This record gives sequence, structure tokens and C-alpha cells, in this order.
Amino acid sequence: MSGIFSRNPTNRLNLITGKVLPMRLPLEPYKIKMVEPIQLLPREERERLLREAGFNVFKIPAAAVFIDLLTDSGTPAMSEHQWAALLQGDEAYAQSRSFFRFQETVRSITGFPHVIPTHQGRAAEHILFTVLVKSGDVVPNNIHFDTTRANVEYLGATALDCVIDDAYDPYREHPFKGNMDVAKLQQAIRTYGRERIPLVMLTITNNSGGGQPVSMENIRQVSRICREYRIPLFFDAARFAENSYFIQQREAGYQNKSIPQIVREMFSYVDGCTMSAKKDALVNIGGFLALRDEGLAQRIKELLVLKEGFPTYGGLSGRDMEAMATGLQEVLQESYLKHRVEQVAYLGGLLQERGLPVLKPFGGHAIYLDARAMVPHIPQSQFPGQAIVVALYREGGIRAVEIGSLMFARRTDSGNWEFPRMELVRLAIPRRVYTVSHLAFVAETLETIRRRSSRLKGFRIRYEPEFLRHFTVELEELA
Ligand code: F0G
Repeated sequence: MSGIFSRNPTNRLNLITGKVLPMRLPLEPYKIKMVEPIQLLPREERERLLREAGFNVFKIPAAAVFIDLLTDSGTPAMSEHQWAALLQGDEAYAQSRSFFRFQETVRSITGFPHVIPTHQGRAAEHILFTVLVKSGDVVPNNIHFDTTRANVEYLGATALDCVIDDAYDPYREHPFKGNMDVAKLQQAIRTYGRERIPLVMLTITNNSGGGQPVSMENIRQVSRICREYRIPLFFDAARFAENSYFIQQREAGYQNKSIPQIVREMFSYVDGCTMSAKKDALVNIGGFLALRDEGLAQRIKELLVLKEGFPTYGGLSGRDMEAMATGLQEVLQESYLKHRVEQVAYLGGLLQERGLPVLKPFGGHAIYLDARAMVPHIPQSQFPGQAIVVALYREGGIRAVEIGSLMFARRTDSGNWEFPRMELVRLAIPRRVYTVSHLAFVAETLETIRRRSSRLKGFRIRYEPEFLRHFTVELEELA
């Protein structure tokens, strides 16, 4: 093959000018068998819905969204094999055949003997932390995703981010920007003492830091420190397959290793994982815990019965476990991962070409806009990222999510605001859902917004809950 579909990183067709440019089109390793109609509502309708939602796009009906980049979680298109697997679900309450197939799949991928299903990732986190973490403890991570942070804090413990400093520079090109700074981890162990650190986590890929991967070398280093102090090390493994693809593409010595080999090696350095199957297991709902330690698995299962369900279904149906088992096999296919990562980079390239401030390198599941660079006139206290999120829906019926002050800023005891280091807008790409034309539309919409960005306005909070503010907050647009 040659031209725009070349295997070599060469050419890309500019959809607007018709010119061929140097970037390749992401070529889908699938074709479409079933379609879901979407529509762009009239502008006045979108304006009304924004106001009714208190400018919180989590409250806008999905049917009123044209292109939904709110999340890559639970939004994949399942394959024909997954749909077929659903029909084979064994719905026995205890010891179902589907559980054993699921367990076998997770065991063969991770090497962990104990596999415990949960209804999604945060349930796995909650149960693991309830068993391990107590008030006053500290849990280091590269960067905690908001549910792990909230679950740690809910138990009265501190969620400590130890990512490398480069992760906080949106334009710093680093192949493994999700890496943990081992000096920060060692400092934390010295400061708080080993007894106050019940576990260390590594989020692969690092969602809150831009979907950035963690290198095998870094995993090995963190593992060595944790073993030295006998602190359990867990992956927050939601996007483990995307992480393994980056290792294959970017880390010396891994080019000729297969994805399953790389995945197996990654898991060999840790004691267990929490997993949101809604990402790299290619399903709409599901999660699990997998781990080595039998005693810990036993304690987790006791709590699981109370919170989620019997240990062989953990809040899921047999058919859900079938779909997860099949999805976990599909996600490791190199053709799938290549397209996945290239599709995300393709959107990143379109935006970069149009002069939008995008976080580099491009992440595995999403493109992140640097809101402060895009709307420098809106202070952090007025949620610059949210101004862009609102503009995306206003202009193009596109739904994105703010990952900045609206999500993370908090009031200190003295009543002042403490702001996060970055104000990002995430454009998450659902797996196997959108086409190149959809991505081009997103890029065109953002170009329009960029041209008029000096007119965007900030926001003030009208209502906020105690935890996970961004899901239910309501806002007023400032004059
Ligand atoms: N860990 C990471 C790294 C995540 O990205 C998520 C979810 C979770 C844990 C929690 O999993 O949703 O199954 O309970 N992330 C979604 C997102 C919500 O949009 O990034 P869950």
C-alpha cells in the first residue's frame, strides 16, 4: 500500500483543502455493522439545555449531544465476538461458567492468581482501600484519578501525587510523562514512615496527567523501592493495554516484544491491580481486583459479599463477565492498539495544526487542551477549562470534560482557594466509536472557538456537593 494509508509515517489528506500533508490517517481494523444515529440540535436548543444544566455538561441529556468526548469509560463499541459472548453468559449465582472463563483470562494476562469481579473500577478501589487504608495513612500514586483520590480521602487518609515534575509542563516532550518520581516516593516514605503507607499505586496510563504512559523501567524502580520497604504496589490498570503499546513503541528493548509479553512483564513487578473494565476491557460496565496475596484476597472477598455480591459475580451478570473476557483478549491485538493510539494522535495533530494549545505528547485515550493558554483572561477562580467545555457544546454539540479547578480546586481552612497546577480540557475518544470525519468536525469547531476565545467568559459556582464536585456542580456564567 502507499500514499495516505502507508505503513510508514508519511502522508495525510487535509480534509478541508484536499492537500496531502505529512501525517498518516488512522486506518480502522474493523468495519461498521450497526449504527447509532446522532444529531446536532439547533443552537437555541443547545443554549437552553446549557442553562438548564447549570452549565454542567454532565447534566445534559446524551441524546442532545452530537459528539460525546466526555469519557472513554464505558463508551466503547463492542465487537461481534463480545455480543456473541453475551448470549453465552451463565447466570448461576455461584461458581458460574462465565466467572471461570473471566478468571482464566485475567490470570493468563496478569499472572495474578486471585481475580475478584466488581461492578466498576471505583468499587474495586473502595473495597481494596477499606481493607488496607486507615485514617491518617498516606497513599502515593503518580497522580490519583479523582475516584481513587476521593476513596482514599473518604477513609481519612491522604492521596499523595508523586509524578515527575515534567508531567506538570503541558508542552514538555517526555516519552513516559506518567512516570513516578522515585525521589518523591522515597521522601514520602521517610517523612510519613513505612507504617503509614499501606500501599503505593501507579496509574497506567496516567489519566489525570494527560493519559501519559509509565515506562517499564519506572515500574521496575518503584517496585524495587516498595519491595525494600515491604509496601504493596498496585496498578490502577484501567488503560494497561494502551500503556503497554507505548512501551513497545517508545522504550528501548521492547520493539520486538509482543503486547501480551509486555503486559505480563508489567504486572510481574506489582502485587495487584484495581481495574475499571470500562476502558481497556472494551465493555460498557465492569471492573475487577486481581492480586497475589491469598490472605488479602480473602479479606477483600469478605467485604465484597457485603458491598458488591458473591465473589464469583461481584455486582456483574455472567454475560458481563463473558464480554469482559472477550474484550480483554481483543484489546491486546496490536492492530487494535495501533489504530487506537493513532486515532487519538490524529485528533491531536489536527488541533496542533490549527494552533490550539494541546498537551504533548498526545495521550493514549484523549487529547488535552491547555485552558490557561487558550483563555488567559479567565483566572483559575473562574474555571477557564469549563469556559472551553461550555463553548464546545455551544458551538458544536460536543461534550468534553474539564480537568482543572472545577474538578480539583479546594478551599483551605483559611477560606482561600488552592488551585491545581494545570487547567485542562479533556477530549476523550471512545474506543471504536467515532470516524475521521467526526474528529475533523471537532477540530474545526475548536478552531472557531480559538478564533473567538477572547470573548469566552468565566463561571461562578451556584451549587456544589461535598465530594466529586464536578459531577453535580451548578454554575452561573459571569457577565
Ligand atoms: N482509575 C482511572 C485511571 C480512571 O480513569 C477511572 C475512571 C477509574 C479509575 C474509575 O473507574 O469509572 O469504572 O469506576 N475514569 C473515567 C474517566 C470515569 O472518564 O476518566 P470507574
